[in-house]
Amino acid sequence: MVLSVDGIATPVQGIDDPALGRVVAAIVAASRDVATHVRAGALLEMPDTDGAQNVHGEVVHALDILGTERFVEAFDDSDAVAGLVCEELEEPKFFDPTETAGSYLCVLDPIDGTSNADIAITIGSIFGVFPTPAGVPLEGEQPFLRPGTDLVAAGYVLYGSNTVLVLATEGLVQEFTLDAAGGEFHLTRENIQIPDDCPYYSVNQGYADRWDPAVRRAVDVAREGRSLRYVGSLVSDFHRDLIRGGVFLYPADASSPNGKIRVLYEAGVFAFIVAQAGGAASTGSGPVIDLVPSAVHERTPLFVGNANAVEAIDLALRG
Ligand code: AHG
Ligand code: MN
Repeated sequence: MVLSVDGIATPVQGIDDPALGRVVAAIVAASRDVATHVRAGALLEMPDTDGAQNVHGEVVHALDILGTERFVEAFDDSDAVAGLVCEELEEPKFFDPTETAGSYLCVLDPIDGTSNADIAITIGSIFGVFPTPAGVPLEGEQPFLRPGTDLVAAGYVLYGSNTVLVLATEGLVQEFTLDAAGGEFHLTRENIQIPDDCPYYSVNQGYADRWDPAVRRAVDVAREGRSLRYVGSLVSDFHRDLIRGGVFLYPADASSPNGKIRVLYEAGVFAFIVAQAGGAASTGSGPVIDLVPSAVHERTPLFVGNANAVEAIDLALRG
């Protein structure tokens, strides 16, 4: 069974529960609105940030506020989302339980690549959808402390030279492209598999002085015969690797012992997507998809992309 999802022109393969269809429809509605603001840049009025910092101590951009508001509203309206963990919200947010029985828990990075937001460089929104766990009270962090293997859907929206929505469900990764005039997403890639070729590697080489010898070895292995690409928006680097082939590294270093990438709404989501597309994601000590965070904003080192490249990196890390 396939469902028609509001805002996506094609019936959507892999979505066979109407409530999950409403979650995806909410993501479509919110991201379409964010896309309009990204397109318009400084020409549209944006929320005032007052120099605020988020839970991670990072400067909040107006788009972080706008994106969070739009996704929270859309999830609330969907009556299909019981709770949300969002990069910009310190605590999990729960929606009215009388309206959301039997529904889903979402994890979200509303704007990934915030430092690129007001310089016209590609940014994105990252999302994951878990079934609401049975027998766990819907309060606090516990309902969200689960591995990527529990996800039923995950994906991202990339606000680039065009806007694309990539949606992964069990065994299937699809890409939809926004027709800005009509306001609908259309299927543009049916069953994405990461290429066997791996022409690119991505890492912030500027941190080389902070890497330990094992990480240096791993980066050397990743670099061999490859071109460097580093956007500084993981969502953009990941999309390029998924379509063209490549591997992305965000290792631990002396100032970030767990790296920077968040388990729940970044690493785990990409691990789920890449697994459906024939790639791999490792923390350097094991598969990211099996990682159960002990806190909702926990970080992890991340090596993701071409399975052979990730395996070679793992070997180099082990020495
Ligand atoms: P955020 O979600 O706060 O915008 O973080 C962006 C992440 C990721 O998208 C990107 O790959 C990485 O930060 C870049 O960090 P560095 O500047 O440390 O390389
Ligand atoms: Mn991010």
